[in-house]
Amino acid sequence: MKMKKRLSLLMAATLVATAAMTGCGGGRQAAPETTTAAPAQETKAEETKAEETKAAEAATGFEAGATIGVSLPWLGTQNWKEADEMFKTQLEAAGFKAIVQAADNKVPQQQQQIESMIQNGAKVIVVGPVDGSQLGSVLEEAAAAGITVIGYDRLLENTTGVEGVVQFGSIKTGELQGQALLDGLAKEKGEGPYNIELFGGGPADPNAPNFFKGAMSVLQPKIDDGTLVVVSGQTDFTQCATLDWDNSKAQARMDSLLSGFYADKEIHGVLSPNDGIARAIITASEQAGQKIPVVSGLDAENESVEWIWSGRQYSTVAKPTDVLVGKTVEIIKSLQEGKGMPAPDTNVNNGKKDVGVYELPPLVVTKDNAKEAFANDPGRLDLLK
Ligand code: BGC
Repeated sequence: MKMKKRLSLLMAATLVATAAMTGCGGGRQAAPETTTAAPAQETKAEETKAEETKAAEAATGFEAGATIGVSLPWLGTQNWKEADEMFKTQLEAAGFKAIVQAADNKVPQQQQQIESMIQNGAKVIVVGPVDGSQLGSVLEEAAAAGITVIGYDRLLENTTGVEGVVQFGSIKTGELQGQALLDGLAKEKGEGPYNIELFGGGPADPNAPNFFKGAMSVLQPKIDDGTLVVVSGQTDFTQCATLDWDNSKAQARMDSLLSGFYADKEIHGVLSPNDGIARAIITASEQAGQKIPVVSGLDAENESVEWIWSGRQYSTVAKPTDVLVGKTVEIIKSLQEGKGMPAPDTNVNNGKKDVGVYELPPLVVTKDNAKEAFANDPGRLDLLK
């Protein structure tokens, strides 16, 4: 009897929470089922309570000058340096108090920074994780304190503590990189077959396997039909990954690939997951006396934009940081005004729940379309001369 009463209370609470969520834009996940066996009910009750608190908060929003935390993984590539500056500027322009920190690629440092953002009363915490799967408990702690956690640029995995992720499509980015490599080879290296090598990003970053997967969906059929030859035979992500996205590690791998497999062969192309690694690959190739291979990239870093313009790097993929930060701040404003999370473009399962994804389109850039691509970016446009 007692149990029955409790169950119906829970169900009523869930209904209230669900109604509140639906009323605020539908971007949230449905509350968990309540008809499970007794032992699970304690956790369910806690979850329902957290959902209720959040639903109530979503309905009322929070104060306009609230503190917002932003935890970035590192400042090692241009996009993160831009994010560091732009979050400060855009959050302050929107009237918030911003705490923006970067974690030097160290998981414990990032956990501590998020912990202190919780202590400092942040209403929303935006996280670009060093390691997508290592923040589960601190993010769940934040969520339990009524804080909304949003993933920025990278997915937050294996945690129920996240409400959404804002990013450029990571599979799509990889597809663009693979296609650019193929197009560049046809354009610059005559008839195939082409000798190529493959590089991936940092294995802890959930984007890196996705970039690689997207690229391989384009390249694998051409490897299978003999158009592309991976001379080293290294085609698994684990063989190709670059620990910590460290350019010097990529350069060392490229040096050893060239001396081990290309002493008497030309290398025609290399799949690179970002611009820093692309420049490391190009430098190693030049030092080994090779003609510059066709190399893909990502981030439209200033130095690579110059290299593309001068013909040293073939392509990059632009994912403008101002747009990504702008989208994140827009979501934070929606939460502040009590409108909840906006409806996401798609959902992705992070191992523990389906997470709403706010997805922006990446754009491939070569010398051919650089002027158009950067038409609204005076800083980069200025580099094309
Ligand atoms: C980002 C890239 C960046 C890389 C290394 C990835 O998660 O999407 O823009 O180049 O991290 O910092």
